[in-house]
Amino acid sequence: MSQFSYKDGVLHAEGTSLSAIAEQFGTPTYVYSKAALLNNFAAYSDACLGRDALVCYAMKANSNLAILDLLARQGAGFDIVSGGELLRVLAAGGDAGKVIFSGVGKSVAEMRLALSHDILCFNVESIPELHRLNEVAGAMGKKARISLRVNPNVDPKTHPYIATGLKASKFGVAFDDALATYRAAAQLPHLDVVGIDCHIGSQLLDDAPLLEALDRLIELIDQLGAEGIELHHLDIGGGIGINYGVAGEAAPVPVGDYLARLFAKIDAWRAARHDGKAIKVIFEPGRSIVGDTGVLLTRVEFLKHGEEKNFCIVDAAMNDMARPALYQAWMDMQPVVQSGAEAAVYDVVGPICESGDWLARDRPLAITAGDLLVMHTAGAYGMTMASNYNTRGRAAEVIVDGTVPHLVRQRENPADLYALESIIK
Ligand code: LLP
Repeated sequence: MSQFSYKDGVLHAEGTSLSAIAEQFGTPTYVYSKAALLNNFAAYSDACLGRDALVCYAMKANSNLAILDLLARQGAGFDIVSGGELLRVLAAGGDAGKVIFSGVGKSVAEMRLALSHDILCFNVESIPELHRLNEVAGAMGKKARISLRVNPNVDPKTHPYIATGLKASKFGVAFDDALATYRAAAQLPHLDVVGIDCHIGSQLLDDAPLLEALDRLIELIDQLGAEGIELHHLDIGGGIGINYGVAGEAAPVPVGDYLARLFAKIDAWRAARHDGKAIKVIFEPGRSIVGDTGVLLTRVEFLKHGEEKNFCIVDAAMNDMARPALYQAWMDMQPVVQSGAEAAVYDVVGPICESGDWLARDRPLAITAGDLLVMHTAGAYGMTMASNYNTRGRAAEVIVDGTVPHLVRQRENPADLYALESIIK
């Protein structure tokens, strides 16, 4: 059930009207529902109940400290891709022992930081990275727990920019090189080979490609076991999609159904091995945890009637929400106050000096200047991909808990944006 619905003609987040939020905090503002966040996490944790499993939220989707804190309190671990993200986990009170570190370009400083906090595992993506990590760990007198990110070469059937497990992708170790890479890793004295991982892409509506990737990982784990390299965990990555409301698009597979099928496969495989050993399962979901928990609330500045198109110029822009400009993403827009007026068709655009600065195209909207609009399903890859282009301060962020809105990030002021700059004396 969506936590964003109309009550008496006004769109609400849980029990709080978005008009009241705009009044109190201004626009543009990201507004999240706490209940939606907890429900989405529960879909994973309920399906994992009684199993040796860990949900490592991929915080690149939304890394606000309040969101990390709420998830950490539910037992979440975190999938990080930078030293900065690790510092955020720690600042939010998260447990470094439940952190996995993904990414193709980890620096020496990032490796040191992560080792000094004894993170759960490094997801290593290349042979040079194995050597660098081995050296860094050795110099610190430590052993780094590692997993290899294997590229299972499965087509996730998603947007090419967010497909990551194909042969042409920069990510992971090629499936055919995986065994040799594991053998090399097992020889390095300061590495402890503990797992295997993959991540084939994002916004997957069907779980078939994920289950196919699982089959490929299982094949490798068995081959490694036969060589005496016993893995303790299997990390299937993230990727489950959400419903953006795109006309004609299939509904995404429910998380519970996907996990049930995945665990059934794993149980059948382990039972057939007859060694009685379990394997820990790790997930790295991002979008399916936060995507539908948030909207971007914006105000209409002007309506402009061009020769060929009508433009609805709003105070949010591509710097606040880059997904349409980057991926031609379709995201639903609705007025906060429903009116009986007739709708006209608009392109919803921001004030930035780029033709690529659009949020939505050809949308029928019944609006006038000064009205509020929301862009739905903006909780994932919205604020985390925001920039300061045109010296625009990033939006405020609010989490609604029932009838209480909590400001969890203040709006940036222009002075914040140039505070680190200086002129040449
Ligand atoms: N693990 C790894 C290693 C990843 O690269 C990603 C996302 C995830 C987990 C989380 O995937 P999710 O569950 O969110 O699908 N900015 C794009 C999405 C980029 C995804 C990058 N990797 C967008 O706005 O659609």
